[in-house]
Amino acid sequence: MRKFCRLLLCAVLFASCVKAPQETSTSTTTSGGTSTAVSGGPVRIGFSMDTLKEERWQRDKQLVEKHAKDVGAVLDIQVANGDDAVQTQQAENMLAKGDQVLIVAPHNGVIAASIVDAAHRKGVPVIAYDRLIRDSDVDLYISHQVEKIGELQAEYALKHVPKGNYVLIGGSPTDFNALLLRKGQMNVLKPAIARGDIKIISDQFAREWKAEEALRITEDALTRTGNKIAAIVASNDGTAGGAISALEAAGLAGKVLVTGQDAQKDAMQRIVKGTQTMTIFKPIKPLADNAVDAAIKLARKQPVNATDKINNGKKDVPSILLQPVAVDKSNVDVTIKDGYHTHADVYGQ
Ligand code: BGC
Repeated sequence: MRKFCRLLLCAVLFASCVKAPQETSTSTTTSGGTSTAVSGGPVRIGFSMDTLKEERWQRDKQLVEKHAKDVGAVLDIQVANGDDAVQTQQAENMLAKGDQVLIVAPHNGVIAASIVDAAHRKGVPVIAYDRLIRDSDVDLYISHQVEKIGELQAEYALKHVPKGNYVLIGGSPTDFNALLLRKGQMNVLKPAIARGDIKIISDQFAREWKAEEALRITEDALTRTGNKIAAIVASNDGTAGGAISALEAAGLAGKVLVTGQDAQKDAMQRIVKGTQTMTIFKPIKPLADNAVDAAIKLARKQPVNATDKINNGKKDVPSILLQPVAVDKSNVDVTIKDGYHTHADVYGQ
């Protein structure tokens, strides 16, 4: 009867219902275990993070912690600092400790498939957080509309600088987001390239999303073109910062359009100052809240309402994809109204 109701609920919501995996291993579940989750006790959530390097990930951590506390879940957070072996080991430890559901922000979206396999052998569901886990049976993906972010960045650039030399700076190639962003950017830029309006004079990915890599790519592009760059489509604020350092050294900061993503504090200040042109604001609270709420439901074997989907190479992963917002000098205040930043954060003291 409960199963029937669940199916009915899915049909009514027109949503794909995500069901937790069945345990396939013979190993015993440790302390508390799935039964506690099923019976409605506190759920043990493991949150495996790649990094806290960018300001946004510190927010993700705090907000997941806060929401888990508010709803009475037990949270176990581990940060791998960009090391795949460490992230895999940390996830294994979470499973050994009896975490009943994993939320994983993978460093490497391909390697993290092994975390999904290990979790599923114990009947533990896995949510890919912000970054997709590829070629795996991952249960749910919660993120923003990443391809759309790439489109917003390129649309903004093309609208304001419709002609000239463009530099594309992608993120880490091991992060599927970097590839989705580039896809979105190219969706928009291709016709302008075909018309000969813009010329892509550099098209690279910054390893580990490093600002130093973006700086190097920009310096190289400036040298090769004799400083003739019209726009830099940087995939996030960290790489935008690196590109802007190179522009500053060449006396070109503020004269070349630079995109970004994350609406992090230093980028907001650069936008006000005029050295960065735009960023993409991705509210983190709904991401964190949705992840914790969905984790609890999956652990309790309850359906999750996920209306989007994205293919990860193995399947269409049920997804919850939130809306990004383009921000430039004209609307920096949206981040203040939202409570994401204070007025002093954006405008300086
Ligand atoms: C996230 C960005 C972040 C980048 C570097 C991406 O996967 O979506 O918000 O800036 O990783 O950490």
